[in-house]
Amino acid sequence: MQILGIDIGGSGIKGALVNTTDGTIIGKRHRIATPQPATPEAVAQTVNKIIKHFDYKGPVGCGFPALIQHGIAKTAANIDKTWVDIDVEKLLSEASGQKVFVINDADAAGFGELLFGAGNGHQGKVMLLTIGTGIGSAIMNKGELLSSTELGHLEFKGDSAELYCSDAARERDELSWEKWGKRFNKYLLYLEMLFSPDMFILGGGASKKFDKYSDQLTVNAKVVPARLRNFAGIIGAACYAARN
Ligand code: BGC
Repeated sequence: MQILGIDIGGSGIKGALVNTTDGTIIGKRHRIATPQPATPEAVAQTVNKIIKHFDYKGPVGCGFPALIQHGIAKTAANIDKTWVDIDVEKLLSEASGQKVFVINDADAAGFGELLFGAGNGHQGKVMLLTIGTGIGSAIMNKGELLSSTELGHLEFKGDSAELYCSDAARERDELSWEKWGKRFNKYLLYLEMLFSPDMFILGGGASKKFDKYSDQLTVNAKVVPARLRNFAGIIGAACYAARN
């Protein structure tokens, strides 16, 4: 099946056609800068432009950087505050005339990595963390996704964990990769204590520098960088739409 996958991010909105049978990208990815301010109307128009670019008709899978429950955005930690309580599925579907399935961005990446990336075929408990402006999380158990986990907002060191050890926190506090790795490791140890995953997959910006901090990670679980890189969210979102 060929499905259009879209990943909505803070700086770019990216789309590509995905072969949902083998997880490959068909043709080229198309990226448009996220409109500023990234209001629901402006983002819906940009998503529509991506769909038009591919001259695509059919179901669309879309990853979105907030807590999504039944297609509705419930939080807006790192996006425009006007998204809270917006029915994102309805908005994007009406704006484009196509059925758009919306899933949290980390869930999309986790699903993509589980099907075709670093977690491929894993039958145990896998936790994916995207480390960027915020921290997104996805938990997969026995090949099934437990959606909307939001572990970046676990209270840690007195505040949301993402404020302590996201990639943005590393830049804000001007930490070396080694120092940041030590910080991130504390968070991983906490997650391991709570959830005991067999494997952590690290995605997002910081995953590209994995070698610079992997020595600092002392959890028992296997820790690996994401394999599908920038495409995990697009592939996972498309596969999610294919299954709905
Ligand atoms: C949001 C999550 C999102 C993550 C990564 C967090 O601030 O609450 O929903 O997955 O950032 O974008």
